[in-house]
Amino acid sequence: MEIRDRSFVITGGASGLGAAVARLLYSKGAGVIIADLDQDNGVVVAKELKGIFIKTDVTDEESVKNLFSEATKEGRKVHGLINCAGIAIAEKVVGKNGVHSLQSFSKVIGINLIGTFNAIRIFSQYATMNNPNSDGERGVIVNTSSIAAFEGQIGQAAYSASKGGIVGMTLPIARDLAAYGIRVVTIAPGIFDTPLLGKLPPDVRETLGKQVPFPSRLGRPEEFAALAVHIIENAMINGETIRLDGAIRMPPR
Ligand SMILES: NC(=O)c1ccc[n+]([C@@H]2O[C@H](COP(=O)([O-])OP(=O)(O)OC[C@H]3O[C@@H](n4cnc5c(N)ncnc54)[C@H](O)[C@@H]3O)[C@@H](O)[C@H]2O)c1
Repeated sequence: MEIRDRSFVITGGASGLGAAVARLLYSKGAGVIIADLDQDNGVVVAKELKGIFIKTDVTDEESVKNLFSEATKEGRKVHGLINCAGIAIAEKVVGKNGVHSLQSFSKVIGINLIGTFNAIRIFSQYATMNNPNSDGERGVIVNTSSIAAFEGQIGQAAYSASKGGIVGMTLPIARDLAAYGIRVVTIAPGIFDTPLLGKLPPDVRETLGKQVPFPSRLGRPEEFAALAVHIIENAMINGETIRLDGAIRMPPR
C-alpha cells in the first residue's frame, strides 16, 4: 500500500509505539488520525503531525463507529489501521492479595483483544469501499501483540491471553478479508522504551535491556514504526505475526 497521500487511523496513537508510527507515516506524506482515550496527549501529537485527533474508546461500539464516520467525512478515505491501543497489568492467579480478579482479566481482554477486533471490523467495513490499487489492495491492518503471547511471565495470564488472541485471529481475519484486498499483519514486540516502561526505575529498565541477546538494549519506538511502515508497503506480507525482539525469549520472571 502506498503511504503518500493516504490516511491511516492509529489507535493508541497519543503515546509510545502508536505515536512513533504516526510520526513516521506523517514524514512519508500520509494523513494521520490519532484515535485514543488520552485527549491531552492525542491533541498534541495530532497538532504536531497536522493530523486529526478523535477521542476514542476502542472497547466501545459507538465510539469506534464515530471514529470511522468522522475520519471518512466529506468523502475522505482511510486506507490503513494501526492498532496500538493497549494496557498491561501484573496479577497472579493466586497471589498475596487473593485470587485474580475476574474484572481485571475481562478489562485487559476487553481493551487489548476485543478493542483490536472492534477497530478491525469497522475499519474493514469502510475499507471494502475503497478503490483498489494496481495490486488490488484496498486496505492494510497492523496489530500489536507482544512476545507475552508466546512466553507470558508470572502475573501475565490476562495480558498473554489478550495478546495470544490477537495472534490467533490474524490468519482467519486475513482470510476473511482477502476477497476485498485487505491485509492483516501482527507485530509481536519484545521490550520497547515507551511511557509504558518509563514508569519503571532506570536500573530496572537497564536490566531489562541487558536481557536482550542483541542488540542488548530496549527497543526504540522508531524501530517498531519502521516495521509497521514496511508491512504497509510490502503487499506480500499477510496473515502473519512477526516478532520484533532482538532474539529475547522471556523467562518465567
Ligand atoms: N512497550 C513495550 O515494551 C511493549 C511490548 C509489547 C507490546 N506492547 C504493546 O504495544 C501497544 C502500545 O504500547 P506502548 O508501550 O506504546 O504503551 P503506551 O501506554 O505508551 O500507549 C498506549 C496507548 O493506548 C491508549 N489506550 C489505552 N486504552 C485505550 C482504549 N480503551 N481506547 C483507546 N486508547 C486506549 C492509551 O491512552 C495510550 O495512549 C500496547 O498494545 C502494548 O501492549 C508494548
